[in-house]
Amino acid sequence: MHSVVPLKVHYYGTPVVLVSSTNPDGSTNLAPMSSAWWLGQEAMLGLGASSRTTQNLLRTEECVLNLAPSTLVDHVDRLALLTGAPELSEHKRATGYRYEPRKFEAAGLTPQPSELVRPDRVLECPIQLECRVTGHLPIDSARAIHVTVLRAHVDSSVRMLGTDYVDPLAWDPLIMKFCDFFGSGDALIPSRLAAGWQMPGRLEQAS
Ligand SMILES: Cc1cc2nc3c(=O)[nH]c(=O)nc-3n(C[C@H](O)[C@H](O)[C@H](O)COP(=O)(O)O)c2cc1C
Repeated sequence: MHSVVPLKVHYYGTPVVLVSSTNPDGSTNLAPMSSAWWLGQEAMLGLGASSRTTQNLLRTEECVLNLAPSTLVDHVDRLALLTGAPELSEHKRATGYRYEPRKFEAAGLTPQPSELVRPDRVLECPIQLECRVTGHLPIDSARAIHVTVLRAHVDSSVRMLGTDYVDPLAWDPLIMKFCDFFGSGDALIPSRLAAGWQMPGRLEQAS
């Protein structure tokens, strides 16, 4: 039997993308996001207007979308309540965010130079997409940012040999389902975001 439920969140299970973007001082910012959908070589990213990533994308019109495998769940979670924006919105402060200008070090990830855009790629991500921002529009307090893939880098470990396709058996994306992390369909760890957003995560918070 169905009930009418005023759902607060519609995160039904989407891959986690680590977005690299260029800060005003030329360093690379890195932020996890999962509100992304794809159409051919185009993608739409749903990003909060106050995030450093949004500001960087609108100013520089470029980014790298690094697709996170499930094995990077701990690294991604370390970024969950960090922002590269020195000025925190009242909402972010209340949610427990703090300013962190060195996201790669904070996450324990390795910067790898890009070829067509300025922000670094994430070496540990087997799929890295260098992108140009082609448009954006406001949605509520967020922005829908349209990006076009300029160049895709695919590690041989997830490529179907001799083809231009990713091997679906080898590629195991980190999935954000509501506010918990999943990989291969299995529960991994709760996201710190669940605590910050006071979401009823299904997985026990370790600490
Ligand atoms: C797994 C995960 C998924 C997230 N998905 C989104 C998202 O789709 N859109 C968004 O605006 N923020 C999302 N966030 C929150 C951003 O990472 C957060 O706003 C962060 O401050 C952005 O960093 P920045 O301010 O340095 O850009 C997500 C966080 C996590 C941990």
